[in-house]
Amino acid sequence: MEPSQVTIIGSGLIGRSWAMVFAAGGFRVKLYDIAQEQLTTALENIRKQMQEMEKSGVLKGALSAEQQLALISVCTDLKAAVEGATFIQECTPENLELKKKIFGQLDLIVGDSVILSSSTSCLLPSKLFTGLKHVKQCIVSHPVNPPYFVPLVEIVPHPETDPSTTERTYALMKKIGQSPVKLNREIEGFVLNRLQYAVISEAWRLVGEGVISPTDLDLVMSDGLGMRYAFIGPLETMHLNAEGVSNYCERYAEGMKLVLNTFGPVPEFSGETVQKVNQALSEKIPVVPKALDARRKWRDECLTGLAKLKTQMKSD
Ligand code: NAI
Repeated sequence: MEPSQVTIIGSGLIGRSWAMVFAAGGFRVKLYDIAQEQLTTALENIRKQMQEMEKSGVLKGALSAEQQLALISVCTDLKAAVEGATFIQECTPENLELKKKIFGQLDLIVGDSVILSSSTSCLLPSKLFTGLKHVKQCIVSHPVNPPYFVPLVEIVPHPETDPSTTERTYALMKKIGQSPVKLNREIEGFVLNRLQYAVISEAWRLVGEGVISPTDLDLVMSDGLGMRYAFIGPLETMHLNAEGVSNYCERYAEGMKLVLNTFGPVPEFSGETVQKVNQALSEKIPVVPKALDARRKWRDECLTGLAKLKTQMKSD
């Protein structure tokens, strides 16, 4: 049977990674961009990544790197790019007007069964999709960078999204090996970034107030909380750290509230603290492409290793 086709709009960091995820899942992928040279670079980059991963035995999917590469084609004509697609994942820069323009164009050329999905990190579906003729088929599928290595996808419907669009998107994400979660309604920052910003904001206050150094702060997460959060979430942690959640609340609610009431206002993320954090991090990882890329590569290798470990340790 001919594999289904998906279209990726925008071939930057996230678009490339989605293309690889879908190709690993056996889908034909059409990668669309306004700039041909961007597509050429994207294809070269995907080829290099796939070949390296194949060599080190971490390529995803049942197909070889060559077979997966053969599934990916590039295109600078929007109409041709979406023709035959069952799912379209938009990955253009985080700019509301630009994305609205693209969804407006897509709205005019797609049929009634294709899903129009956006990778947006923080634009609400009601801002992106309201007024579109195909709004029932529109949804946000927010990945985590890099989606090839971090499987979570937040699925966020517009108030008018048809439940079948949500279900189909959820099933598709499962099929390609991602880990989808459904939000019942849209909310600023979705869930991942709300949690992330809560952590960043307290980290910022603690460093800003001189309670701990920036490097030690990061260690609290990477060698402390993060160790368990790669396997269980904060709610299961409560469950396991006492005799169930009710017992945890009986034991620790007062203590938690006491600490939470000492949290300060939302930081400005400017001034002295920026310099302090930037200096500490730049000593460890200089802000030059070579050093940043090397560290990103190492991070991705760690995530690959962790993904393997999580597969071995899988339990439902
Ligand atoms: P990027 O800047 O790396 O790539 C954007 C791509 O879109 C470029 O290839 C550009 O040529 C192309 N483009 C620009 N205008 C276009 C148009 N009119 N039609 C088609 N293509 C066009 O951006 P990145 O980082 O890949 O982000 C894409 C989306 O993914 C954004 O909405 C971002 O918020 C979201 N996202 C990004 C994450 C990240 O960590 N980078 C994580 C999760 C989501």
